[in-house]
Amino acid sequence: MRPESLAGLAATARAEVAAAVDLEGVEAVRLRYLARRDGELTVAAASIGRLPDQERGPMGRAFNAAKAEIEQALAERRSALLQTTRAQAAEAEWLDLSDPAVSLELGHLHPSTRIQREVEAIFAQLGYRVVEGPEVELDEVNFQLLNIPPEHPARDTQDTFYLTETLLLRTQTSPAQIRAMWAQPPPLRVITPGRVFRRDNPDATHFPMFHQVEGLCVDEGISFSDLKGTLEYFSRSMFGPDRAIRLRPSYFPFTEPSIEVDVSCFLCGGAGCRVCGSSGWIEILGAGMVHPQVLRNGRVDPDRYSGFAFGMGPDRIAMLKYGIADGRDLYENDLRFLRQI
Ligand code: DAH
Repeated sequence: MRPESLAGLAATARAEVAAAVDLEGVEAVRLRYLARRDGELTVAAASIGRLPDQERGPMGRAFNAAKAEIEQALAERRSALLQTTRAQAAEAEWLDLSDPAVSLELGHLHPSTRIQREVEAIFAQLGYRVVEGPEVELDEVNFQLLNIPPEHPARDTQDTFYLTETLLLRTQTSPAQIRAMWAQPPPLRVITPGRVFRRDNPDATHFPMFHQVEGLCVDEGISFSDLKGTLEYFSRSMFGPDRAIRLRPSYFPFTEPSIEVDVSCFLCGGAGCRVCGSSGWIEILGAGMVHPQVLRNGRVDPDRYSGFAFGMGPDRIAMLKYGIADGRDLYENDLRFLRQI
């Protein structure tokens, strides 16, 4: 072994380093020449110690030079490769800041929620506050304090999910009337939107969970004409300025007198169509003057105060307004259905 052959080895190594196309290739060259036990240069160096004195010096220097040369070539190639990788990554991740943004698909309100919000906004203009009642309610508040004792036939129309003997899922938002009176003495104007539950088998117009909005107004001197004016204002705001309302006598245990309210059909204008059953009228809510006993149950003195109440179903209004034939569509969360409204 002569110093020149070490230089030759270094030259070959340098050429191989230059030819390496990635960091693994560079590492392979390093191992081939400089690996601690069997690298070619390492092996060559092992014999230096056995050389005669005068040869040992030049050989040692030649070894150091060759090693330094190879290490430098390795380092340079490594950093060159790293730079290209970074440049490639930067190129791949490059953002065109002038590119128009991809427009995000925004959701929208559920049809029933939309109607509920419209109802809230209309009554807010009349000074009504929105309050919420509990969905899990006492039998006492859902029924008894609304003049519906345990054996009352009115319970038949509201087949109930009982949780215990005394607790149930509210079948109507009317119990919120009682809670509103408990919470605040008159004058009182509140509406209560929310979910109600009945043990009905789902069909086109029934669902075990649906929505109601309850309204209650209690003050001194509230009369039936206040109720009528309020309902007229509501109907015109909700269904259009040309709408007329029709009041029909009805029965609810918690109001006396009780009425059902029809609005002139907002689809055919009253001429008669499929939706209004050619009658020209559509039933939209139940209402009445709060029964004196219900006022008393709400800790309100019926000799001093009177009030009216009403209740409606935003799901039903949404069905009428948007021409939804099957109410189950409202709850099946099929995006194709919900997106078209
Ligand atoms: N709670 C009644 C129902 O579910 C609707 C109703 C009728 C509410 C008359 C009222 C009312 O406040 O005065 O059928």
